[in-house]
Amino acid sequence: MRPGAHRPGAARAAAGCAECYEALTSGRGTGTGAGRTASFAGMEILVTGGAGFIGSAVVARLVAAGHAVRVLDALLPAVHPSGREPAWPAGVEFVRGDVRDRAVVERALSGVDAVCHQAAVVGLGLDLDDAPDYVSCNDLGTAVLLAAMARGGVRDLVLAGSMVVYGEGRYRCAVHGDVAPGPRRIADLDAGSFEPPCPHCGRPLAPGLVGEEAPTDPRNVYAATKLAQEHLAAAWARACGGRVLTLRYHNVYGPGMPRDTPYAGVASLFRSALARGEAPRVFEDGAQRRDFVHVADVASANLAALAAVGDRPAGSARVFNVGSGAVHTVGEMAEALATAYGGPRPVVTGEYRLGDVRHVTADSTRLRDELGWRPTVGFADGMARFAAAPLRGR
Ligand SMILES: NC(=O)c1ccc[n+]([C@@H]2O[C@H](COP(=O)([O-])OP(=O)(O)OC[C@H]3O[C@@H](n4cnc5c(N)ncnc54)[C@H](O)[C@@H]3O)[C@@H](O)[C@H]2O)c1
Ligand SMILES: [Zn+2]
Repeated sequence: MRPGAHRPGAARAAAGCAECYEALTSGRGTGTGAGRTASFAGMEILVTGGAGFIGSAVVARLVAAGHAVRVLDALLPAVHPSGREPAWPAGVEFVRGDVRDRAVVERALSGVDAVCHQAAVVGLGLDLDDAPDYVSCNDLGTAVLLAAMARGGVRDLVLAGSMVVYGEGRYRCAVHGDVAPGPRRIADLDAGSFEPPCPHCGRPLAPGLVGEEAPTDPRNVYAATKLAQEHLAAAWARACGGRVLTLRYHNVYGPGMPRDTPYAGVASLFRSALARGEAPRVFEDGAQRRDFVHVADVASANLAALAAVGDRPAGSARVFNVGSGAVHTVGEMAEALATAYGGPRPVVTGEYRLGDVRHVTADSTRLRDELGWRPTVGFADGMARFAAAPLRGR
């Protein structure tokens, strides 16, 4: 951080969401999990979206590891209805501003070694009226950031990607081998037939783990903008000799997750229902397979990527899945949360959302092998802790 930098959050260190902060930085099964972070210290890092669910976990980890952290966040009203600045860990410098604002971004980049780009509008992007906002925040915002990094000589980037870029996950047909099913038909969904059939013979398919080389197939506006971010970052890296590591997070959950907004993840919707004394409502037949990864492990993946990015060849881009490696269904997750919370049993409703995919689970071998990352929070323990964890907002 440059000398004399103003750090408005410092005075309120460890106030406010102290419980989240403690959960994310203490040794309770949330070690860095990254073998190379030992030699990675004293860097100056800009975290965009650092006031959000995942960004704030990354910020807490970076500060605990001894880095100087600046946050750029617009505190979007949909995410931060109170409009209040979060309570930052000691020493964090906060710049309230938009990643689409060239002057603000230039200021935020001053003196920075690497950028951890978390800022984005999240959700499914099903309402097309929201499409301009998704594209503007996620893609125009990324382009403005990258252009400023190119001008300012900042060459190292860790990008928050998403498993949504894969669309439907990986499937195997007994006759045709690996296949990519098309979007599910509305008539099938209405009839309660949720499994995508083999596109060649219509036989049932066996779902598998999706690797980074799987073809991308974004199925909604949000997914399209997340993939465009990756393409923009790769183009930036080639053009200016930058280095980007993209982390494609799977379903992230944990303390500080936003309360049930239309944009929140399913774990938060279930947890919010339980807090109201209601049963979690599970869509489809509850057998959708997902990889639920704890936010502490996603934060440690970011630290591992920030530690490694500077050693990558100039002009390179590489993507990594970030998943726990444990496959669970949405129904199992609802059961685990309801049990841990002591609330009503989940109800399987048969409803569906058009933008949802049936199964998508991660193969995170690359992240383990190349960056030495290890997830440390298991499903049962993580869900039990999440049942008691504070949610954010309202
Ligand atoms: N939560 C998940 O399960 C998940 C899964 C895959 C990928 N991701 C990605 O992780 C990143 C963080 O997601 P999250 O769940 O923490 O979301 P979040 O909504 O909690 O946080 C996003 C933050 O970015 C800020 N922001 C948004 N647009 C901005 C802009 N134009 N300028 C400045 N700040 C802006 C918001 O104010 C917010 O604080 C996103 O890039 C998202 O696409 C999240
Ligand atoms: Zn087939």
